[in-house]
Amino acid sequence: MSTATLEHPPAEADAIQSFTVTFLIRRFDPDVDTEPRWQDFDVEMYATDRVLDALHKIKWEQDGSLTFRRSCAHGICGSDAMRINGRNRLACKTLIKDLDISKPIYVEAIKGLPLEKDLIVDMEPFFASYREVQPFLQANSTPEPGKERVQSVAQRAIFDDTTKCILCAACTSSCPVFWTDGQYFGPAAIVNAHRFIFDSRDDEAKVRLDILNDKEGVWRCRTTFNCTEACPRGIEVTKAIAEVKQAIMRGRP
Ligand code: SF4
Ligand code: FES
Repeated sequence: MSTATLEHPPAEADAIQSFTVTFLIRRFDPDVDTEPRWQDFDVEMYATDRVLDALHKIKWEQDGSLTFRRSCAHGICGSDAMRINGRNRLACKTLIKDLDISKPIYVEAIKGLPLEKDLIVDMEPFFASYREVQPFLQANSTPEPGKERVQSVAQRAIFDDTTKCILCAACTSSCPVFWTDGQYFGPAAIVNAHRFIFDSRDDEAKVRLDILNDKEGVWRCRTTFNCTEACPRGIEVTKAIAEVKQAIMRGRP
């Protein structure tokens, strides 16, 4: 090996390899289209790029009309859930290196909610169910002045998993029951009810359990585990639903 190679490696050795990746995106413009249509885009990508980077490149360099939601770009805000190769994921957490780029990558809006434009759905029915389960602390007692409501580590651990929800709707929109029955509360609402039902400081668990004991509540769940597989936060969604079912039958532990 020559000294020159060691001290001055050729520029191409430093170059990071890029690939041309084809994206098939399901487009829908309510002003023009009667039905959604697939459109393909070739994008120069690096293995470390994410699907969200591809959408940005398409929007900024090829077609400014491409419409999608995103905010944080780091898996926190929950605004860019979409179907990528048939699975619900966050575009900002899906790396190109984890997809098979020898084939086109399919990107479409999540299912079960009204399609508004391209990758954007109307989230209002989703948030209406969320609001219905009263996802906020309701404590009847007043803590001593200057004191907090005390909770043990074990009491906190019971609902720790469901505190991680970012309301992305990946779970609810992957649920076959929700696809066919728009009245079903859906996994995300139940997860957020769980977060307060099992909080030892809350006094209104019974109200939420009664709400979810409805015919469109927890009993509609068919335990398909789609929700757990879809959750980008790793929440054991199906387990949380099962715990709410148990609490309806036997009371909160
Ligand atoms: S439970 Fe998971 S998939 Fe469902 S809304 Fe919350 S973060 Fe998203
Ligand atoms: S853009 Fe915020 S979670 Fe992906």
